[in-house]
Amino acid sequence: MRKQPAKEVSDILEPVLVLLRDNRSKFFSAKEIADKLGVPGKTIMEAIGGLSAWGYRFESNARAQFRFLSAPDTFFPFEIHYGLKTKYIARRISPYYSIVSTNETAFRLAEKGAPEGTMVIAEKQTGGRGRMGRSWHSPPKLGLWMSLVLRPKIAPSAAPSLSILSALTLSEVIRAKYKLQSMIKWPNDCLIDNRKVSGILTELSAEPDKTEFVIVGVGINVNLTSKDFPRSLRSAATSLREELGEKVNRVDLLRAFLERFEINYDLFKAKGLKAFLGKIKKHSLMLGRKIKLKVGQKIIQAVAYDIDSDGALLARHRREILRVTAGEVTIIDSAS
Ligand code: BTN
Repeated sequence: MRKQPAKEVSDILEPVLVLLRDNRSKFFSAKEIADKLGVPGKTIMEAIGGLSAWGYRFESNARAQFRFLSAPDTFFPFEIHYGLKTKYIARRISPYYSIVSTNETAFRLAEKGAPEGTMVIAEKQTGGRGRMGRSWHSPPKLGLWMSLVLRPKIAPSAAPSLSILSALTLSEVIRAKYKLQSMIKWPNDCLIDNRKVSGILTELSAEPDKTEFVIVGVGINVNLTSKDFPRSLRSAATSLREELGEKVNRVDLLRAFLERFEINYDLFKAKGLKAFLGKIKKHSLMLGRKIKLKVGQKIIQAVAYDIDSDGALLARHRREILRVTAGEVTIIDSAS
């Protein structure tokens, strides 16, 4: 029989972690773990040392046994994958500490053929991109800055629907998980108490009648405090931590978002945005409100009254009905 090559420490980090984590009330000796994984006890000690250096915490007892205590709130792929119930969303992850923009990198990966669901995630962006050519403030370790590669078989004109679908998904997660009243500001922002907690930037590569891929970039202000925002953003922006009064585990939030996103995206591919219109309208901050929109060079005041099955905003301006598919929309009446 051929001899199996000896396992490296890096090969067993994840199995050691999963074993201890799945049985977190139990203490294990290095020998017990080694026997289960078929490696020398010395390698197990190195693995536990390596995991500890990454921020995993273990408790040891007088009999030199270990048990799992806690995980760091860091976007390691195997941390994200622990317990993640998705079939294809974020099954492939490109993690970075610092990146210019996750959207930019995801776009390049998609051009090289990255499969549907590939996720690019970073602790920090140095050139985070927002809509309308704006920048997106993305300081290290405080937020969730990530992009997904999607390859839906839809007309390019339907691609903006993915912005609103993603905003709805996040709004649902924020409501269900943190009991905060998240609202969608058309087309792609999530607001809590009228302040922006998240923005979504959708970019696409398409031929006139065929979408090649769509990049959905999601930025969530998770653990930023007021001083972490530039002064110019402080009154308009908020974070989950500011709203809840306590820190939020970013990996938990990410897993919840990815799982909900896959469910919603599968339904979107089967039925289109119309399957979500009821929910979108319920979460929408804009319907029935007086708005200001920029159409070409003109600024128009109108009343927003509906969202159609492609995600366009319908607004009344005098007797005219405007169908808004992109651009800057501002609410100009005060909330009732
Ligand atoms: C906006 O509200 O203007 C959209 C902001 C989108 C920000 C996210 S952060 C992750 C992804 N990478 C980027 O460069 N932008 C998006």
